[in-house]
This record gives sequence, C-alpha cells and structure tokens, in this order.
Amino acid sequence: MPANTRQMNFGVFVHTTGNHISGWRFPGAITRDEDFPAIHNVAMVAEKAKLDFVFFADTPTSMNDGLPVHLVRFEPATLLSALAVTTSRIGLVATLSTTYNEPFNLARQTASIDQLCQGRAGWNAVTTANMEAAPNYGRAIIEHDKRYEIAAEYLEVILGLWDSWEDGAIIANQETGEYFEPKKVHTLDHKGEFYQVKGPLPHSRSRQGRPVIVQAGSSPAGQAFASRYADVVFTVQQDMEEARKFREGIKRQVAAAGRSPDEVKVMPGILTVVGRTEEEAKAQFAALAASIKPGSAMKVMSERYGHDLSTYPMDGPVPELPPSPLRTQGYAEVMLAKARRENWTLKDLHDLFALSRGYLMVVGTGESVADTLEEWFKVGACDGFMLTPAYFPGPLEDFCNLAIPVLRKRGLFREDYAGDTLRSHLGLPVPKNRYTA
Ligand SMILES: Cc1cc2nc3c(=O)[nH]c(=O)nc-3n(C[C@H](O)[C@H](O)[C@H](O)COP(=O)(O)O)c2cc1C
Repeated sequence: MPANTRQMNFGVFVHTTGNHISGWRFPGAITRDEDFPAIHNVAMVAEKAKLDFVFFADTPTSMNDGLPVHLVRFEPATLLSALAVTTSRIGLVATLSTTYNEPFNLARQTASIDQLCQGRAGWNAVTTANMEAAPNYGRAIIEHDKRYEIAAEYLEVILGLWDSWEDGAIIANQETGEYFEPKKVHTLDHKGEFYQVKGPLPHSRSRQGRPVIVQAGSSPAGQAFASRYADVVFTVQQDMEEARKFREGIKRQVAAAGRSPDEVKVMPGILTVVGRTEEEAKAQFAALAASIKPGSAMKVMSERYGHDLSTYPMDGPVPELPPSPLRTQGYAEVMLAKARRENWTLKDLHDLFALSRGYLMVVGTGESVADTLEEWFKVGACDGFMLTPAYFPGPLEDFCNLAIPVLRKRGLFREDYAGDTLRSHLGLPVPKNRYTA
C-alpha cells in the first residue's frame, strides 16, 4: 500500500431524515429524527468505517421549511450524552449556539460530554443566523458582525473555563486524605464587554484536553472567528479552485493569529451517490432529482441565501443581492459564484438546495468518487470532507462500503483509528492548559 503522510478526515452530517429535502421518502430511509436506535445505528456505521465523527446541526427553533429535521429533533447536547455511552470510538459533535446559551452552562455541558465519551466530543460553535430563534428567548435579533464580536468574547470565556483545572489537580490520595491541589485550580474572573464570569468550572480536562471546536461561517467575520478558535472549519465550496483559495486563506489567517496552520482542518460538505456501476449511481441520482417537489426548498434556499427569493421568477437568473446584514453571508457568495459560472436560473439553485442543501454533489462508482475526492485533497482544496448523505442509512453505507475501501487502498484513509480521542482521529495535538508552565 502506498504510504501517504497526509490522510483524509470524514465527518457525517446526520440529518437523520436526510440532507435531501425528500430523503425520508426513499425506501429504507429513516423517517423520524427523534429515533435514537436509528441514530445510534448511523453512528455505528460511521464507527465501523473508522470515520472521524458524526455531526448534529441545530437551531433553537421548530421551523416548517420543508426539512423534517427542522420540525422536531433531539437537543444535540442531550443526544451526545446518549451516544457518548453507547459508542466507543467515533467522534461526536453537537451544535450549540453562542447567542442563546450562557457560556458557563455551555462550558459545563460540553466538558461533561467530553468526560462521558472519554475525549471524543466536539462543539460546533454557531452564532445562530436564523431569525426565528430570537423570539424564543424574548430577545432582539443581533446584527451579523456583532454576533461574531460577542462570540469571540464568548470563546475566550469558554476556553478559560475549560482550563480551570490543570492536569493532575485531583490527587484523591486515600492514605493522606489529600483530595486536590488548590494551586492547580484557577478562577477565570472574566470581566468583559458582554460577559462577567467568575469560575472555576466544576470539570477537569478530558483525555483530549478540551472538546474540538468546529465552525462553519465563511463571511469575512466568520473566517476571522474560525482562524482564532476553530479546529475544524466546514465549508460550502462547489468549485475546486475556489475551495483551494478558501483553504489557503484560512490557513494564512490561522498563521497570522499565531496558530499552526496544520492544526486547522478545512472540510467542505459533499453529497455522494455511490453505485456499484456508473449506471446504477446515475439512476440513483436521477431518482433523487425526480423526487424534488417544485418550490419545496424555497425557504431553505432563502434562509441560506440570506434573502427571501420567493418573489423572483424561477426561470429567471439568480438575483444579485448584497450580503445580508442579519442573516448568513458565506453561502450566498459561493452560490452566486456558481450561478454566474454556470449561467443558472433560480430553479437550478433551488434544485441544488433541494438535493443537497447547497453542497457539492459527486455521483459515480467507488473508484470515480474516490478520484474526485483525491483530486480535491491533493490540490489542497480540503483536509477531508463533511459527508451529507441524501438519506440514512443507505447512501452512507454505500459510501463506506464502496468508496472508503478504494481510498484505503490508495493510502488516503486510515485502516484503523490511531487513538481513542477525536483529536487523535483528526491528527490534532492535545492543547496545553494555559495555566501549566
Ligand atoms: C456545514 C454547515 C453546518 C452548519 N450548521 C449550522 C447549525 O447547525 N446551526 C446554525 O445555526 N448554523 C449552522 N450553519 C451556519 C453557520 O454557522 C453560519 O451561521 C453561516 O454559515 C453564516 O455564517 P457566515 O455569514 O459567516 O457565512 C452551518 C453552516 C455550514 C456550512
């Protein structure tokens, strides 16, 4: 087997009822998002294939935008607690909002989960762009860049709290009765513009030091935030060269922030349809395309585009609109670039959102899908991929059974986990505790 020093990382974006807008309607698909045995099975499929992590998105709302997962689902921290004790190797990443959670509570929950799963936890730090969340908290909507400004202070608080207990602070010496070393426990005493948090946190560090931080915003403010704090950056690029430039830009900003560029993984979302033959894969994709109900992804598309697109003609061009001051920005830029390149109508964009919620799509055999992934990886367009299967578990199993063995044969993906923590899967070092000399 050829020896590659750099290998791909894979996360699985678990929208249990499917990333495709009608994924849940396909034969054998999971039809409910509050189905723990089914979610556990998905995690086990990913763990058996030695993938890096399963990921759960969230916004604190119940929305009717056509995707069943946005109506009802598990609260992600609660879900991770259940998976923490029923899986053994796979990384577990939950989305929790910086805008709608007290930092002390969030630091506690994530640190607890990281202890429960023995160092396999990750946190997708989102500022929550969705407009429907604010009224659930009796709060006003906070403007886009301001949300990131607040989130930066939030992250400083979280990182400080996670380091409250230095490694070795708990002694628990039954003979001497000495339980802990007070010098190794630290009070944060944070007094900032947005938060006052004393600490310490009633949690020590897990085997991986602290949960992995994931981030998915790609506006200028989002990239600056990611470069300072993220271990993993999810992206939405559709074009390899665009993705290469994006990753290069992130790595440059990471270095400028005083961090090692190798310690941040950039992972574009990708929907794969893998068949035993090209014809089989094409037929599966045709079935996915044929199942799109006209207009069904209008709300999802408008949310991600940052503007209501329902008043524009579907057979007209994708409208050129300025970045939204409130909603998401990064998606719109990528989508507009693709629409311009390919001379798309609004219907073309709509159908991309219906099929894959806007992510890159690759259709083919294990070999040909692996070829595309390898090309993106080798030109430096990514460090791995965030898999967004059309539905579960079939298309994920197809990827694991047909494409993963090809990547393994090429030395591009691990034969087995090298360690037990999510950081070890991602090849990230255990971060030093800020108080330890
Ligand atoms: C792969 C991916 C997953 C995301 N998951 C969530 C999520 O679960 N909850 C959420 O509120 N936002 C989610 N987002 C949105 C981002 O966190 C961010 O708000 C959005 O991309 C806009 O940021 P930007 O304006 O900096 O691009 C996700 C984005 C991407 C690309």
